[in-house]
Amino acid sequence: MYPQEFFSEQWQVYQKILDYDYMGHQGIYQSLSIILESSFKAPITFLEIGCGDARFTTKALSNLDISSYHGIDISPVALELAGKNLKSLGCPTVLVEADFNPLAEQLTRDQYNSFDCILIAFALHHLTYAQKDHFIGEVFNFLHPQGKFILIDIVRRDNEDRQDFLRRYFNDMKRDWVEFTSDDYLIVESHVSSSDFPETKEDLIAMGYKNNFKKVEYLYQDESKTMATLSFSRNI
Ligand SMILES: C[S@@+](CC[C@H](N)C(=O)[O-])C[C@H]1O[C@@H](n2cnc3c(N)ncnc32)[C@H](O)[C@@H]1O
Repeated sequence: MYPQEFFSEQWQVYQKILDYDYMGHQGIYQSLSIILESSFKAPITFLEIGCGDARFTTKALSNLDISSYHGIDISPVALELAGKNLKSLGCPTVLVEADFNPLAEQLTRDQYNSFDCILIAFALHHLTYAQKDHFIGEVFNFLHPQGKFILIDIVRRDNEDRQDFLRRYFNDMKRDWVEFTSDDYLIVESHVSSSDFPETKEDLIAMGYKNNFKKVEYLYQDESKTMATLSFSRNI
C-alpha cells in the first residue's frame, strides 16, 4: 500500500492514533507552539507540507499572528477536515491536493515562492534518503532569508538500522496502543513496514548543513527517542 492510500482510505485509523495521542502529538505540538512564539514576532506566512487534517497545527498556531496558511497534502479526506479545522485561525488559507515530492514543481506551479515558516510533521520519512536530502535543499529555496524550517518526524536511534527500528516500534505499539483492534494494528503495521524510512536525527541535521542552512537545532525528543523536532535556520 502506498502512503497516499493509507492516508486516504484509512484516515480513521490515523485519527485514532491522534485521539489517543499514540505518536505524542500533544507534547510535540505544545513544544512547537513555544518554539514558534519565541521565534516569530511579526505576522507569519506559513507553509505546512503533508498537513493532514492540520488539527494539532491549528492549536499550535492559535496564539500567533498568521498572515496566511498554505497546506499541501495528497489525501483529499485529510484536506477536507483541514479546511474545517483551520477556520479558527481566521487567516487566508490555501489547501492544495498534491504530491509534495518534488516540492519545487508544486510550489512553482502555484506561484508561491517564499514563506517565513515551513513545517513538515510525520511525513518526510516516506521519502528515500536521497529524496529527503533533495527535499531539504528545495525547502531552503522557499524560505524567507530570516525563515525557519521545522521538521518533526520519527527517527532511528544512533546505532539502530531500519529492521531494529521496526522491531522496537511494533513492540512498543503492541504494548502501548491498547485501544487498537487487531485490524487497526495490522493496517498500521503494513503501512509502516512498506512506507516508513526514518533516518537518525544526526543524519537529518547533516542534511540541513549540507543544504546550506546556517543553524540546525535539535529542539525536542520524546522519552522513547522515537520522535524528534529539529529547527533549520537560513541565517543565524
Ligand atoms: C502521518 S500523517 C501526518 C499529518 C500531520 N502532519 C500530523 O502530524 O498529524 C502524514 C501526512 O502526509 C501526507 N503525505 C504523505 N506522503 C505525501 C506526499 N508524497 N505528498 C503529499 N502528502 C503526503 C499524508 O496524506 C498524511 O496526511
